Amino acid sequence: MKINFIFISSLALAWAASCLDAPVLEQDPQRPTVDEDPTARPLPGISSTLQLTFDKGDAAFEARFFPSQGLGPLYIRTACASCHAGDGKGPGFVTKMVVLDDDGVAVAAALPFGGTQRPFFQTPATQPLSAPVVDGLVLSTRMGPAVFGRGYVEAVAESELQRVAEEQAARGDGISGRIHRVTYNSKSNPDSTFNNHTEGQAGLVGRFGLKGRIASVDEFVADALQGDIGITSPLRPTELPNPDGALDDAKAGVDVDADFVNTVGTYIRLLEIPRRTFRDQEAGAELFARVDCAVCHVPSLRTDPEYPLAPLADVDAPIFSDLLLHDMGEALSDSFVEGDASGAEWKTPPLIGIRFFDGWLHDNRASTVDEAIEFHASVGSEANAAVDLYHQLSEDERALLVSYVESL
Ligand code: HEC
Ligand code: HEC
Repeated sequence: MKINFIFISSLALAWAASCLDAPVLEQDPQRPTVDEDPTARPLPGISSTLQLTFDKGDAAFEARFFPSQGLGPLYIRTACASCHAGDGKGPGFVTKMVVLDDDGVAVAAALPFGGTQRPFFQTPATQPLSAPVVDGLVLSTRMGPAVFGRGYVEAVAESELQRVAEEQAARGDGISGRIHRVTYNSKSNPDSTFNNHTEGQAGLVGRFGLKGRIASVDEFVADALQGDIGITSPLRPTELPNPDGALDDAKAGVDVDADFVNTVGTYIRLLEIPRRTFRDQEAGAELFARVDCAVCHVPSLRTDPEYPLAPLADVDAPIFSDLLLHDMGEALSDSFVEGDASGAEWKTPPLIGIRFFDGWLHDNRASTVDEAIEFHASVGSEANAAVDLYHQLSEDERALLVSYVESL
């Protein structure tokens, strides 16, 4: 317990320090004055039972796993919060690896233990899974994106995504996102409150992951436990293959129960979108639409009336995303194919709580929002015309747009 406490408070300190690092909030009159702590704020009006689950899930999300609890055999970090500190973005990240031939095509089986580096190991494993020395190896860094507001993301009605995809296809200006159809790769969740997906079920809407590779929050939690921390669950009962052939860790069998997965899942679903206040709201939103940011970063989508959490059913979800895959061009490509998504395709990331980030885009390559916008443009990017429109704005308008985006 004590160790957990120290871990949590050091995270809190790191978070506080990173807020202190951002004095711009006071200096720029265009900037919002909101610097509320976005962490652990649940949707309003939830029952006391849900509040209890939220608090349990919050603690589980922060807690570090120990070897006796099933950490490893190979892992990347020991806690969810290591890569989603304060429910936000990073500082931990995942490094993906792929081997390309001379024509830029992925060489199958060049990486026998999968395309993700797992730099730490735990007995009985004796070595990490790191980049082999082979010609054509390409690495892709992916920051852990924020997790707040993801209940809204799960709740958005599929018909909304279809509508937006059709509207984009009809535009004729190069912007044409598509739903990433994915397959459920886990055992069924014994609790079917949120879905009754079965292993191998195809055609689901991929909403989670930077390329939208997973359909639901609970499957993502199970995937993250297994892939990032080496924690198996009834949804993902098997440790991932690794160079040692170690089949298990210090805790025999499945490491956590389905209730644990669902508690963390419910916590994530109940996380509120950090409150937004911006003094030039209307002018900012108008510019955001005028330069076509809003075509992909759709400010709001309607949720499914049947969504199991009442505060998220049949509401406007202000997620600033279409949850569709877009070809973002050569410069943003990481050459890494995931499901149907190509190297250059990325899901429009929800612009939720991005004012709390200290870097933008999948690998944090942009250190300002202005840079993030500029990096949308490269050969083949669907966003090239939007960046042109951004360049046509006056300097003041650009500053206002950036401030608006920084207030989200
Ligand atoms: C080593 C860093 C790391 C750890 C540890 C980690 N994550 Fe993540 N998380 C990521 C990255 C990177 C992504 C994007 C993954 C992708 O593109 O498939 C992600 C994506 C997610 C998403 C999808 C967000 C979205 O909108 O696309 C959820 C939900 C999530 N993680 C939850 C968790 C939970 C719960 C845990 C703990 C069990 C956890 N993560 C542990 C790095 C991490
Ligand atoms: C064609 C669709 C499209 C358009 C148009 C578009 N974006 Fe994006 N945006 C994306 C995608 C996809 C990404 C993720 C790219 C990556 O991470 O490599 C992204 C990433 C971002 C990010 C980084 C978010 C994060 O989590 O780090 C910001 C900020 C952003 N866009 C703002 C804007 C603004 C402002 C505009 C208008 C000038 C705009 N975008 C226009 C699709 C689009």
